[in-house]
Amino acid sequence: MAPRKIIIDTDPGQDDAVAILLALASPDEIDLLGITAVAGNVPLPLTQKNARIVCELAGKPETKVFAGCDAPLSRTLMTAEHVHGKTGLDGPPMVEPTMPLQDQHGVDFIIETLRSEPSGTVTICPIGPMTNIATALERAPDIVPRIQEIVLMGGAYFEVGNVTPAAEFNIYVDPEAAKIVFDSGAPLTVMPLDVTHKALTTKTRIDAFRALNTKVGDAVAAWTDFFERFDMEKYGSEGAPLHDPCTVAYLIKPELFQGRHINVEIETSSELTRGMTVADWWRVTDRPANAMFMKDIDATGFYDLLAERLARF
Ligand code: BDR
Ligand code: CA
Repeated sequence: MAPRKIIIDTDPGQDDAVAILLALASPDEIDLLGITAVAGNVPLPLTQKNARIVCELAGKPETKVFAGCDAPLSRTLMTAEHVHGKTGLDGPPMVEPTMPLQDQHGVDFIIETLRSEPSGTVTICPIGPMTNIATALERAPDIVPRIQEIVLMGGAYFEVGNVTPAAEFNIYVDPEAAKIVFDSGAPLTVMPLDVTHKALTTKTRIDAFRALNTKVGDAVAAWTDFFERFDMEKYGSEGAPLHDPCTVAYLIKPELFQGRHINVEIETSSELTRGMTVADWWRVTDRPANAMFMKDIDATGFYDLLAERLARF
């Protein structure tokens, strides 16, 4: 089968970085058409730079990286330096990238790509706030039926929230954008905290990255070590969730994940529950299903896949 054409929309972020590396390491399954950066974990000047740092680390400076939106649709940007550090990629020392940033705006790249590629052949993989995607869908509604699938990291049902008692970071930062994406009618697959909180970076798993004895293995081990501290303290767990690579892993090995096709609505008006993903897991409403909402992951299979693919660099 031909590799799946994807666009990664991202706010790197150490876990975003691992998602990008997993995609770049998997050319048989994934054809990465481009990376669009968005403001999220850190501001846009850092996320677009971090995306290029990761591509260079992977030895893929030819990857196209675009800068997209620098603020949510209608809210003030909230960042997460307390988790990801000042640069967004704190952990190992990183060199300034020399590969270019593309001139085109990330939103224009998304629209142009979906219009120029055959309909139903491009998948979008948002792993940050969905401002770029929502802007593209609003500006060019003709692209909606051309999208093969949107496979995103965001939201939660059983785990509820990580930045407020009710909301997960990517959705909370730009709930209006998330609402546009969830209401769009495009086929959605969602990796919520319910999945990612089962994909923990235990010591053995981090050691497996370090044991690769490569630049990439060392960087991934140092990144996961870095943000692990914050989450372990917060949750009292044996490791930290490696959120974003779940999306790319799903594109490579969908059998690692299990969920339900259900209705998911985004709360935008309440201050108390802003950004909540109201997931009808028990199908108690007659609202139509709009998302494949995942709940379970084969975490061992996921980390085996990661270690096997990262060993290719
Ligand atoms: C999400 O928020 C970010 O901090 C991570 O990169 C991930 O995309 C998890 O809530
Ligand atoms: Ca992210």
